[in-house]
Amino acid sequence: MAFVVAVAQQKGGAGKSTVAANLAAALAAGGDRVTLLDTDPQASLSRWHGEREKRRDRAVPLQFAAPSGWRLPAALEQLRRGGQDFVILDTPPHAETDAKVAIRGADLVLMPLQPSAADLWASEATLKLAEAERRPVAALLNRVPAQGRLTQEIAARLRAGSIPLLAPTLGNRAGFAQAFQEGLAVTEAAPRSTAAGEVRALEAAIRAMAAGRR
Ligand SMILES: Nc1ncnc2c1ncn2[C@@H]1O[C@H](COP(=O)(O)OP(=O)(O)OP(=O)(O)O)[C@@H](O)[C@H]1O
Ligand SMILES: [Mg+2]
Repeated sequence: MAFVVAVAQQKGGAGKSTVAANLAAALAAGGDRVTLLDTDPQASLSRWHGEREKRRDRAVPLQFAAPSGWRLPAALEQLRRGGQDFVILDTPPHAETDAKVAIRGADLVLMPLQPSAADLWASEATLKLAEAERRPVAALLNRVPAQGRLTQEIAARLRAGSIPLLAPTLGNRAGFAQAFQEGLAVTEAAPRSTAAGEVRALEAAIRAMAAGRR
């Protein structure tokens, strides 16, 4: 049975697509069968995957699909039983219905947020959806600045709200945008970069959660 991760966060631009793409590619590089699903009409990941097709020399093999909203539950069910190890879903912002369907089908809701009050406030909507569907959540701090008391403050507020926060974080690094436009993950475009190290730490954390739930 596949371990299904929905990357969800109501706030636009929090890093859902970046996290979904990098996590999927890192898991696939470890030898697992991974499917990445783009459920966002903005189709960022579909564009990313289109670029990726031209980069077969550097891109690890990854299954990709963009099922439309009403087809998602059936597509997910098929993938869950179809010999995949991980299914990673990118979800749209501000789309209650579509996000709900993705969250319902997930074993884990991975919720990226930037260390800002706006992202923290927007997280409440995503947390409510996950709670209503009784799905476990893990928050991931993304675009963390090199220094800043704000990051510590946001982490403390998550802890105070009993929201599980992953230990790995992703820094604010140009390499993420650079790799994305090339259809690659940072682990492929710049394997020895700090960003790649951060993504590998995220990958390890997700693997540990999958092992715990299987
Ligand atoms: N860790 C990071 N460091 C630097 N830039 C980042 C990082 N994460 C994301 N970005 C950039 O922030 C922007 C938004 O990221 P992304 O598209 O992944 O967010 P999103 O949550 O999927 O947005 P949307 O809600 O519109 O789907 C992009 O330009 C992306 O390159
Ligand atoms: Mg996106």
